[in-house]
Amino acid sequence: MNYAIALIPGDGIGPDVVQEAVEILDAVGDRFGHVFNYVELSAGGKAIDESGVPLPPETLESAKACDAVLLGAVGGPQWEKLPGHLRPERALLGLRSGLGVYANLRPAALLPQLRAACPIKDEVLIASNENGKPEFDLLIVRELTGGLYFGERGRTPDGTAAFDTEVYSKTEIERVLRAGYRAALLRRKKLCVVDKANVLESSRLWREVAAVVAQDYPQVETSYLYVDNCAMQLIRAPGQFDVIVTSNLFGDILSDEASVLTGSIGMLASASLGDPAPEIAASSGGKKTTMGLYEPIHGSAPDIAGKDLANPLATILSVAMLLRHSFSLEKEALSIEAAVNKVLDQGYRTRDIASRATATLSTGGTAAVPEKIVGTREMGKRVLEAFESL
Ligand code: IPM
Ligand code: MG
Repeated sequence: MNYAIALIPGDGIGPDVVQEAVEILDAVGDRFGHVFNYVELSAGGKAIDESGVPLPPETLESAKACDAVLLGAVGGPQWEKLPGHLRPERALLGLRSGLGVYANLRPAALLPQLRAACPIKDEVLIASNENGKPEFDLLIVRELTGGLYFGERGRTPDGTAAFDTEVYSKTEIERVLRAGYRAALLRRKKLCVVDKANVLESSRLWREVAAVVAQDYPQVETSYLYVDNCAMQLIRAPGQFDVIVTSNLFGDILSDEASVLTGSIGMLASASLGDPAPEIAASSGGKKTTMGLYEPIHGSAPDIAGKDLANPLATILSVAMLLRHSFSLEKEALSIEAAVNKVLDQGYRTRDIASRATATLSTGGTAAVPEKIVGTREMGKRVLEAFESL
């Protein structure tokens, strides 16, 4: 099968990490008999330097014409003084809304090999976990094309005050909740709606809509939390969470918090999805693709760009999500995840995930594996080797 993938390496460490992920994709293509055709596109600071705007219309048009989009990162200090609508971050917002990818899946699980890089004590993790193990495995589903990020904003005429507005329609709330429920059905069947319904009217609408949508998913246990409490519960008892569904701004904040629990933001992949593709009858033989935007959740880290220091694993894991969610290639996705797991078992670490203590094997064994600190390129190479040896 042939697939078209738009590559937007972007700024800072974006190109460093996207390069490693593409090498893995090519290896997956060779092994499983797929052809991935890449279309490289400019966005963010790179596009500002080239053409004066963060998201040139041709970038969005070409991206839409592809089956999926892989993005590195955008932004950097040289563009920080530009007015809001010309900043690199606008490219991200424009891509998200232009591609209609309203459901942002941000998984955060503690890998046993990175246990020592997680700042939470064993007893705290254990106490919140039904299985009595020092682990957690949660998924934040962040609404991505509405809310405060896209509401009306501005200044009063005399410039003495500014405002941003949170607007959510029932339709926007319902579709992201359904994305959350679909994910929960494949996981531990728990879904927590996170809002600020004790203060915000938009949050009260979230609860109203959730109460109705929940009836369609009786297998899933639905709960509600205020966002301030959720921020606390994430560090107090992360094991209680399975799927969290929340608004754009709350999801932005909570996902950064959750990333720290996993050891490093350099590990967290993400998928942003629109409506699921209709089922294609097996007999038709056609490929089934769902448009998705895939990106590591870390930023462009300009201070380490091009220095062979960035962790490429979040982007490599984003590629696994791309294969799973956009192309329904589950075997292929699992093989990438297995290769990453193996490399961590072997003790390879980029600087950000190196721990001060001993590593544990994914099998739960306590045999300490000496950690070997490697750069971006070598980490990519090791994942490739692990993949070839699976
Ligand atoms: C993220 C980032 C972006 C966001 C920024 C770079 C605009 O923090 O993807 O979480 O706020 O959505
Ligand atoms: Mg963020």
